[in-house]
Amino acid sequence: MKDIYILAVETSCDETSMAIIKNGHEIDSFTVLTQMDTHAEYGGVVPEIASRMHTENITMVLEETLKKSSIKIEEIDAIAVTYAPGLLGSLLVGIEFAKTLAYVYEKPLIAVNHTVGHIYANNLNNHLQFPLLALVVSGGHTDLIQMDGDYQFKILGSTLDDAIGECYDKIARVLGLKYPGGPNIDRLAKQGKPTYAFPKPVNDNTYNFSFSGLKSHIINFVHNEKQRGNPICKEDLACSFQEVAIDELKRKVRLALKNTKIKELIIAGGVSANKYLREEIKTLANEFNVNLSIPEIKYCTDNAAMIGAAAYPLFLKKEFADFSLNAKSQVEISI
Ligand code: KG4
Ligand code: ZN
Repeated sequence: MKDIYILAVETSCDETSMAIIKNGHEIDSFTVLTQMDTHAEYGGVVPEIASRMHTENITMVLEETLKKSSIKIEEIDAIAVTYAPGLLGSLLVGIEFAKTLAYVYEKPLIAVNHTVGHIYANNLNNHLQFPLLALVVSGGHTDLIQMDGDYQFKILGSTLDDAIGECYDKIARVLGLKYPGGPNIDRLAKQGKPTYAFPKPVNDNTYNFSFSGLKSHIINFVHNEKQRGNPICKEDLACSFQEVAIDELKRKVRLALKNTKIKELIIAGGVSANKYLREEIKTLANEFNVNLSIPEIKYCTDNAAMIGAAAYPLFLKKEFADFSLNAKSQVEISI
């Protein structure tokens, strides 16, 4: 069979990224241009600035991606683009760019769900085996998903309130750490001990998550300690928070592994870059004797390689988008 090359575009938040993916698994070319330092000055992503910067940078990112590729743009088989969920203005820059490429070079257009992209990051240099359990942990998601085949998603549980990445970012902010907070908490926690006792989320025996109680408790605790003039050990606080939050993720994954007897486990999304989570989930996988797949760190956070990987099954099914494709800020994962 002829090799299939997909050019993928990702602009859902503050990374302008493109990749050329061969046969859904191999990286032919990959570029990420992050705006992180600009947004760090404001303590978080400023949507208006994000879309302007995508507009400024996107052509440069294409040039760079084509320069590194083994093929020419005319030889691409399809153009894939993230259409949801994300910041509307940012998504629209990528969508319009992808549509223009598809029109000019007469290539099919493939619309990819960003969260599905995170899951398919595990298919890069790898082949997903079904059925599998996916723990999706990002700035917008905390989901436990069963997949019985490509694009066959059964949501076992989701967060009832805040996503885990959101908790990382808010707790980092109250500690005065730079945006994005997750990697900073990850780094500090390594140097700390779990000396602070924070409340564990209620054990409800479902697969759902709730992190807002923990987040509010820690934010209030930090404010109160500051008012009383008590010093806070940031390293110990980061370590104590992580222990409770990641224990909760583990508890639900353990329950799902026990009940479903599934033997394949994957983690996905920005928080899957977290060192403590990666170690703990490995221990859990060993305990249950299941195969574990964890994306390389560079494919955990937002990137176009995962979008190219997720587009491949859609290409095989000829599920193409037309030029009326529009951005959506919110969308569920569905079959
Ligand atoms: O998947 P992602 O890049 O964007 C979304 O789709 O939401 O995830 C971003 C989230 C942010 O909350 C960020 O703080 C968190 O992932 N994150 C981390 C780490 N790296 C990124 N959280 C904990 N530890 C990390 N090493
Ligand atoms: Zn993401």
